[in-house]
Amino acid sequence: MPVSIECSRVSTLSRFEVIARHDISIHIQIFMLMCGIVGYIGNREVAPLLLQGLKRLEYRGYDSAGIALLNGSLSVWKQKGCVSLLEEAFSGSAAIIKDVTIGIGHTRWATHGDPSDRNAHPHVNAEGDIALIHNGIIENHAVLRLELEKQGYSFVSETDSEVLVHLIDHLWTQIPLIDFESAVREALTLVEGTYGICVLSQREPDKLIVARQGSPLVIGVGVDEYFIASDAAPLVEYTRRVIYLHDGEMAVMRQSGFRVSTIDNIEQDAVVSELDFKLEEIEKGGFDHFMLKEIFEQPVVMRDVMRGRIRLADKTVHLGGINDHLEELRSAHRMVILACGTSWHAGLIGKYLIEEFARIPVQVDYASEFRYRNPVVGPGDVVMVISQSGETADTLAAMRMAKKRGAKVMGLCNVVGSTIARETDFGLYTHAGPEIGVASTKAFTAQVVALIMLSIALGKNRTMSDPEIAGLLDELVQVPEKAARILQRNEEILRIAERYKDASNFFYLGRGLSFPVALEGALKLKEISYIHAEGYPAAEMKHGPIALIDKELPVIFIAAQESSYKKVLSNIEEVRCRKGRVIAIATEGDREISRLAEQVIYIPHVSPPLLPLLTVIPLQLLAYHIANLRGHNVDRPRNLAKSVTVE
Ligand code: G6P
Repeated sequence: MPVSIECSRVSTLSRFEVIARHDISIHIQIFMLMCGIVGYIGNREVAPLLLQGLKRLEYRGYDSAGIALLNGSLSVWKQKGCVSLLEEAFSGSAAIIKDVTIGIGHTRWATHGDPSDRNAHPHVNAEGDIALIHNGIIENHAVLRLELEKQGYSFVSETDSEVLVHLIDHLWTQIPLIDFESAVREALTLVEGTYGICVLSQREPDKLIVARQGSPLVIGVGVDEYFIASDAAPLVEYTRRVIYLHDGEMAVMRQSGFRVSTIDNIEQDAVVSELDFKLEEIEKGGFDHFMLKEIFEQPVVMRDVMRGRIRLADKTVHLGGINDHLEELRSAHRMVILACGTSWHAGLIGKYLIEEFARIPVQVDYASEFRYRNPVVGPGDVVMVISQSGETADTLAAMRMAKKRGAKVMGLCNVVGSTIARETDFGLYTHAGPEIGVASTKAFTAQVVALIMLSIALGKNRTMSDPEIAGLLDELVQVPEKAARILQRNEEILRIAERYKDASNFFYLGRGLSFPVALEGALKLKEISYIHAEGYPAAEMKHGPIALIDKELPVIFIAAQESSYKKVLSNIEEVRCRKGRVIAIATEGDREISRLAEQVIYIPHVSPPLLPLLTVIPLQLLAYHIANLRGHNVDRPRNLAKSVTVE
C-alpha cells in the first residue's frame, strides 16, 4: 500500500484507532446465539440458492432473515420472521432476481436490538451500494457509532453490526485510491469483538469478501463459483470441497478465483478439505423433526463411531488419532475434561470410566468456570475438550488457556475441521454426522461410545485384563442392536409422555453412571419442553430435594441392574411413600420394579459401563414427545442455539 494512503488513513482515523484500542471498559459480555450466513458468487441463479441455504441454517435459531442481491445495483429484502415469509416477499420480484449470480443471505438472532425488519441483516450504507451480513458481536460498536455519527452517518438499526457497513463506507470514501478489499481490511483492524462477515458492493461488483474472527465461516469451492456459509450444511448439495477460514483471516472471491490472507494482508495458503457427510444426512428423511431422526439414527451412529476402531479378531481398540499418545495419556498426572452442556455430561461419564479402567484421576470442569478462575493446570496434565460443534466459545477459550499453561490438549469433536479440532494437539472425531436438532442426542451417544473405547484403550495393561477387554468389546458391538430395540418402544414412551405432559416439574435420579444420564435426561426435557427438570444423584435426594416430593411430581429413576440397584430401589421406596409418581428405566426381566413404579420402560441387559448408551434413549424420546405434545418447536427451542460461539 503506498505511503500516502497509509498517512491519509491515520490522519482520518487516528481517533477511531485510539478509541478502538482503549475501549476495554466497554467489553460487553453477551450470551450470543448463533446467526446464519450464506453467500454465493458464480454462474447460478443466486436467489433460490440463498433461500435454500438459509433454510438449511434454520436449525440454528433465528428471528429474522434477509438477502441482498447484486445485479448492477443492490437489492435488499429483509424482514422479521421465518425464511418462508422472506420467500413470499420475494415472489413479486421475479424480474429483478432472475439471472443474478452474486448475493448474500442471513438469519439473525436478536442480541443488540429487537427482532425487527430494520434490525435484520443485510445492513447497507446510506448510498445503498454496500451490503453486509455479520455473525458475532462488535464490542466497541458504541464508540464507533458515535464517531461515525459525528462524521454524518445515520443509523437505521439498533444493531452492533451496522457500524461495520458504515465504517467500510467511510474508509473507502475517505482514503484516496483505496479499494473495496482494503476498505474492509482497514475497517476490521478498528473493530473489537467477534465476527464472521460477508460483504459485497456494487462499486466492485465482481467480488465477495468474507472475514472471520471467532465466528465460523466455510468457503465451498466449485468450478468458477464459491459458496459461503457459517457451517457446511448449506454447501453440501453443491460441493464437497471446502476451506475453513481461520480466525484473523479474510478471503476475496471472484468468479475466476480467490485469495486468502490475514487481516494484516499476509497471503495464506488455503487448505481445501473434503466434506465427509452426505446431503441425506442433513435432511429429515421422513421424520417429523430432526431431533427424532437423530434419536433414531443412534444405532447407526454408534456403529460408525466404532467402525475401524474395534478389531474383533484380536479384541483390541485402535484409535488412530491418539495411538501415538497413549503412553502420554497413561502417564498423565491427571486428566481434566472441559466441556459445556450435553458434552459436559458425556465428560462426567468419561471420568467414571477412565478412573475405573485406567486409574487416572479425572477432573471434569465446566469450560465457562475453568476459563474465569485461576485453575491449577500445566505440564503433565492432559486436558480433554469435548464439543459436538467444536466451536463453543467457552470450551475454545478454556482449551486455549490450558494449552498456554503447558497442558497437552486432546479434542473429542464431531464437526470435522472445527476450530477446536484444529487447535488441539491430537484427538478423536465422533463421526456422528451433522446434528441439526438443537437438543443434542446422537452426538452425546457418539461421545460416550468414543469415551468407552478410550477408557478401554487406556485401561489395557493397567486394570483391565485381555479377557475383560474382549468381553466388554463383544458387548459394545452389540449395543447398537440393543439401542434399536429400545427405539421400538417409541409408541409406549409416547403414551407415558401423554400421561405426564402437563406436569410442571420433573425429577431425574440415578447413581454411578446413571447420575450423568439423569442430568442429561433433565436437560433434554428443559431444553425443548420448557418444563423445569432437575437431575440429581439418587442418594443425595435425602439431603434436600426430598422436600419437593408430592403427588404432583413425576420422578424418573434410572434403575438398571448394576451394583447400586438395591440402593436405588430403596430410593424409589422413599419417593413412593411420599406419593411421588415414579417412572423407572429398568432392565428387561426385572419384575420387582414393576411393583414399585407407576410406569417402567425396559431396556435390554448390558454390562454397567455400557449402560448410559441405552438408558439415555428412553429419556430422549420422553423429552421429545412431551415437548411435541405441548406444541413446541422441537428442533428450534426458544432461546437456545445449536452452537454458542460467542460468550
Ligand atoms: C449449546 C447446545 C447444547 C450443547 C452445548 C455444547 O448449549 O444447545 O446442546 O450441548 O452448546 O455444545 P458443543 O458443540 O460444545 O458440544
